[in-house]
Amino acid sequence: ALAEEAFKIGLILPMTGQQATTGRQIEAAAKLYMAQNGDTVAGRKVQLIIKDDTSLPDVTRRLAQELVVNDKVNVLAGFGITPSAMATAPIATQSKTPQVVMAAATSAITEASPYIVRTSFTLPQVSVALADWAPKNGIKTVVTLVSDYGPGIDAEKFFKDRLTFNGGKVTESLRVPLRNPDFAPFLQKVRDAKPDALFVFVPSGAGSAVMKQFLERGMDKAGIKLIATGDVTDDDQLNDMGDGALGVVTSHHYSAAHPSAMNKKFVEAFGKANKGLRPNFMAVGGYDGMRVIYEALKKTGGKGGGDALLAAMKGQIFESPRGPVFIDAQTRDIVQNVYLRKVEKKDGQLYNVEFDVIKDVKDPGKNK
Ligand code: DHB
Repeated sequence: ALAEEAFKIGLILPMTGQQATTGRQIEAAAKLYMAQNGDTVAGRKVQLIIKDDTSLPDVTRRLAQELVVNDKVNVLAGFGITPSAMATAPIATQSKTPQVVMAAATSAITEASPYIVRTSFTLPQVSVALADWAPKNGIKTVVTLVSDYGPGIDAEKFFKDRLTFNGGKVTESLRVPLRNPDFAPFLQKVRDAKPDALFVFVPSGAGSAVMKQFLERGMDKAGIKLIATGDVTDDDQLNDMGDGALGVVTSHHYSAAHPSAMNKKFVEAFGKANKGLRPNFMAVGGYDGMRVIYEALKKTGGKGGGDALLAAMKGQIFESPRGPVFIDAQTRDIVQNVYLRKVEKKDGQLYNVEFDVIKDVKDPGKNK
């Protein structure tokens, strides 16, 4: 009988390699969600099967195939980087398995399969707010520096288009390789160009290297402001970046310092279960992804067929540790608040402190 069969979630994450912090954060968050909400939903035992794709998309695709064919998972979830999410999309479509993207954030991902639902964010969603803020705060000329793949190209384009619309100017657009990036030659170029600000996107885990080299080169003292998406002042690394990070303004959908009762509880429980680790935006994508899966399973009365689950994921509205969110039934993308934040010291620790909010932001990448 169905009740005796476990409901299986295949969670594919980069647990080793350059994106390992993403895997560690999402695994911890998924386990916390299950510890808090039980491992039985609508009479079905929920089983998490965690696989390490080392963030190589060929490995992701093979693991997804094995999880669907051999393990007969009900849901595929995780996906630390865009190429991994994209490589899995055809498998989700062919097998009618919902694919819950908890991390990857290129706008186009949700268009790669009608079975994809996203609980992370998109780079266009968070970049536009900063391009509205900058020219009102004395920043007219900007050089952009992004990782040279999907999310970086999204960030570059949407930041530039909006800044230009607002009367500012992107004087140069630099792209740095995703694998083993060396920021030094790019930063030297920026130093010579001397824009009012440098806008940066790099994926989670790479931010502290950018910050370190930015400061070592004395770029802040040369009058160049660092502005970025919150991927750079990542809560996973921020507290180790040093006081040089103070004052850096970023835009993003989640800060561990988000002042809601729900988030305070989340940060505390996450730290308690993980030796004091601070949750970052990846953790929240994983935690909310589990919630979307649990609620969908409840709604199907424990049946857990792919199409029924997918239908039950669409349109969910709930409070996340990041604030109120909504899974848009048309795009299957998350609609959420985007916050402007500044790095400040609170109780001796560095945090992204929110100072403004743009409410209920849809992915602007879908309006084309
Ligand atoms: C992606 C990965 C990240 O670590 C991040 O912070 C944003 C986007 C991605 O590959 O889509």
